[in-house]
Amino acid sequence: MKKELLKLAQKHGTPLFIVDHDVIRKNYRTFKKNLPRVQAYYAVKANSEQEIIKTLFDEGASFDVASYNEFMQIYKYIRHFEEKDKDFYIWDKIIFSNTIKDRPTLRDIKRYRPLVTYDSVDELKKIRENCETAGLVLRLKVPDTGSQVEMSSKFGAEPGDAYNLIKQAFDLGLVVEGLSFHVGSQCTNFDNYTAALTITSGIFNDAREKGYNLKIVDIGGGFPVPYDSHVPKFKKLAAVINSECERLFPHDIEIIAEPGRFMVATSAGLISEIIGKARRDGKIFYHINDGVYHTFSGVVYDHWIPNFRAFRQGRKEVCAVVGPTCDSFDKISVSEQLPGNLEIGDYLYTENIGAYSTASSTKFNGFDGAKILHLNN
Ligand SMILES: Cc1ncc(COP(=O)(O)O)c(C=O)c1O
Repeated sequence: MKKELLKLAQKHGTPLFIVDHDVIRKNYRTFKKNLPRVQAYYAVKANSEQEIIKTLFDEGASFDVASYNEFMQIYKYIRHFEEKDKDFYIWDKIIFSNTIKDRPTLRDIKRYRPLVTYDSVDELKKIRENCETAGLVLRLKVPDTGSQVEMSSKFGAEPGDAYNLIKQAFDLGLVVEGLSFHVGSQCTNFDNYTAALTITSGIFNDAREKGYNLKIVDIGGGFPVPYDSHVPKFKKLAAVINSECERLFPHDIEIIAEPGRFMVATSAGLISEIIGKARRDGKIFYHINDGVYHTFSGVVYDHWIPNFRAFRQGRKEVCAVVGPTCDSFDKISVSEQLPGNLEIGDYLYTENIGAYSTASSTKFNGFDGAKILHLNN
């Protein structure tokens, strides 16, 4: 493994982001195997590389898109379908999960009869005026404590407002197809899922009793990735979700999910290179050629704690690993156990960096960011 990585670094240069598509396929299949009733919509935002979308498209995945551009990344593969099949594909396999869409986006997607989420009266009116062909999914606010990235402070209708938001949609001539939630990303607190499913089922069953025939329950993303040995097993979560869905909902409904991180995080690793070394206040600073404005952007936006492995042995000490830009904020880690004898030109390896990394990388300070290498695609 070490030798192969070194070969790749020498051949392609660094920083080098290596995506193994066999791992993406394995993750998708693991998800489907453990949650057989759940239709998996890959959340493109986690990593929107076209090659990744192609692999998941070929696997038969559905897609969660946040914007018109992400939608077009999928549309590319169905453009040549017959009109009827294309309409069916879009309806059946794509969801616009961003609860707030601007007017131009709504106008652009109107002709595709999209499935879209909403969580407020104002969004409802905007959808009515600009995209009345849409099917609606009401996003609920649910507990998200203990998740790496919390969501409920920005998204989701209060459960107490849900019935009115459903009724108002139908009163406006729109159709609510179902309910959704997101328990927060990298959710290791499984109680979030059970609480969210309980809240959702109360609203779902009540709406049905009142004559609104909801059909979809969208359990969102949040499925945890084994970044370390403390992360509880996905299999265990899947068992909880399966039994709670069985217990709480009628059998004729569709259950869908929007996994992002789960599909791609473990599929990629990054080889970075030490480009400078300095001792500052007694601590070794390794300056590498990638940082928080680039592939390590997840440290900022995703609250992610990266891991580093050296290719050379040596006595370890607490070091800082910092990015290449002139900004002092560009510190990836200020306490990393690494050999103190690493030199300029040595490589570092970071695994499980496939999600929310290159997707939110910038060109700050004129650095291009990592080269992306696709394997087994
Ligand atoms: C609406 C929505 N769905 C799905 C996801 C994917 O979440 P995760 O990567 O935790 O699976 C996100 C992440 O931001 C999201 O905002």
